[in-house]
Parts: sequence; C-alpha cells; structure tokens
Amino acid sequence: MTVIAPELAESRSAKEATARHYLMCPPEYFAVEYSINPWMDPSAPVDAELAMAQWTELKNTYERLGHAVELVDAQPGLPDMVFAANSGTVIDGRVLGARFRAPERAAEAEHFRRWFTDHGYRDLVMPERINEAEGDFAWTGGFLLAGHGFRTDPAAHSEAQEQLGVPVVSLSLRDPNYYHLDTALFVLEKGPEAKVAYYPEAFSAGSRRVLERLFPDAVIADAADAACLGLNGVSDGRNVVLPAEATGLAKSLTDRGYAVHHVDIAELRKSGGGPKCCTLEIHS
Ligand code: ARG
Repeated sequence: MTVIAPELAESRSAKEATARHYLMCPPEYFAVEYSINPWMDPSAPVDAELAMAQWTELKNTYERLGHAVELVDAQPGLPDMVFAANSGTVIDGRVLGARFRAPERAAEAEHFRRWFTDHGYRDLVMPERINEAEGDFAWTGGFLLAGHGFRTDPAAHSEAQEQLGVPVVSLSLRDPNYYHLDTALFVLEKGPEAKVAYYPEAFSAGSRRVLERLFPDAVIADAADAACLGLNGVSDGRNVVLPAEATGLAKSLTDRGYAVHHVDIAELRKSGGGPKCCTLEIHS
C-alpha cells in the first residue's frame, strides 16, 4: 500500500468543475482610443484582427470545457464593450446593472441592460451609484467581495447588498495598475468553502488582513503574476483559464490540483483587460 504524505493528499484532492454560464461581447470595434487606466496607450498600435482571434480562442476554450457562452452585440463607438465583465452583476437571476465612471464607457450600460431584459431577466435594477459590475464584484457563492478605490463607488457596495440581497465585503484597492478588483483577485472555487487567488500588494493593509482572515489558504500571487494580468483568471472549480505569461501562478495552481488552460490575450491587455474582463459569469 502506498502512503500519500498529507501535503500530497491535499494537492491531489480532486477538484470538481461545474458548468458555467458566461456572457461575452466580440471585440468588433475594439481599439485603444482613450486612456482610462495605466495600461492604455492610445499612441501604441492595436491589431484588431489579432484581438478578435485571441477573444475567439478564449470563447472556444470555455466551450471546449463545456460551458455555455452567450453573446451581446458589440456597438460602434464603444471600443471597451468587449469587457463584458463590466456589464452587470447577476446572482440567482437577479441583476444589478452597471454604471461606468468614465464618460467614454457610460453608454455601454444601456446596451447591456437591454440584453438582460431581452433575455428574460425581469428582476433588474439599474444602480444609482457607480459600479463596474464584475470588474469590482466577485461572487464567492456566499458573499460578494467588492473593490473600490478607482472605479466602483464605495456607496455602491451597500447598494449591491440591498439590491442583490447578499452580504458584501468591501476591499480597498491601492495600486492604479490594478484598478478593478478582478485584476488583483479571482475566485477559484465558489461555495461555503470558497477559494481565491490574489495579489496582496494591490490591496490596502486592512483589506489584506480581511483577505487573510477570510481565506487563510488562498493562493498568493506575486508581482510577475499580477503584471501580466494573471489574477484576471476564470475558474470553473477545476479548470482555470489564465494568460499565457502567468507561469508562476499556473505552477501554484497545478500543485493544488487545478488544470490550467493558457490563452494569449496580449492585444486585449493593451486596454487593461484579460480573460475575466471579457467574461461575465451569470451566477444562477
Ligand atoms: N479599458 C477598460 C477600462 O479601463 C478595461 C476594462 C477591464 N475590465 C475589467 N473587468 N477589469 O475600463
């Protein structure tokens, strides 16, 4: 009989995937025409065709993994609409719409709202406070982690709690490179024993203590993982979709029993986005 050391037993514990429901928006009009985060340089060239190919590969990856992907139509003049994570927050069929901080993105909110109403989401509220949806909100299955500091208004956290009827834990972001919560943290496993990966330096000291208390066994990412937007990952509980460059993080995840799937998102990163930014999860 082979005896497995406890740490190996833990790392070999079978991770289970659950089927997910995603909303994405093709980068038909993708461009970097303005700068609303430090990643965006309107003078640097963007290859729109390559962006489309990379986005398509991301979508194909989800479909290969057995997930449902729905699409919202891109709109001319809204180059950031590809970042569908910012479209709204859906928990148990209830939708809290988005309200963008930058005037350049403001008109997206109504297009996304229309998609939800056209697709039968009756229980929808548009917010009074600025909230960039899953850019700053991460659902753990039990509570909503909510970032503020650059985009989402802290007052939107209590609005989300009230409208969605879920407990909200506020986290303060302090590094402009990690301007949305989903650039610094993602949920690996939803549920009562939720698991996350995050980059501590993106958070204030107090928020770091909150994260340590809530997730003592979190996967801790380093500066190199964060710098390629490695924390902008998408997990189904077992399969984790990560930017190609996030090799250190991939190793930590593989050691814990996750299956990593790398995608090239280099063109979309020129706008400050990665896999998760392109993906809203409809949590039903
Ligand atoms: N250029 C976009 C912006 O700055 C990128 C949004 C990325 N989305 C996200 N969920 N982090 O608003």
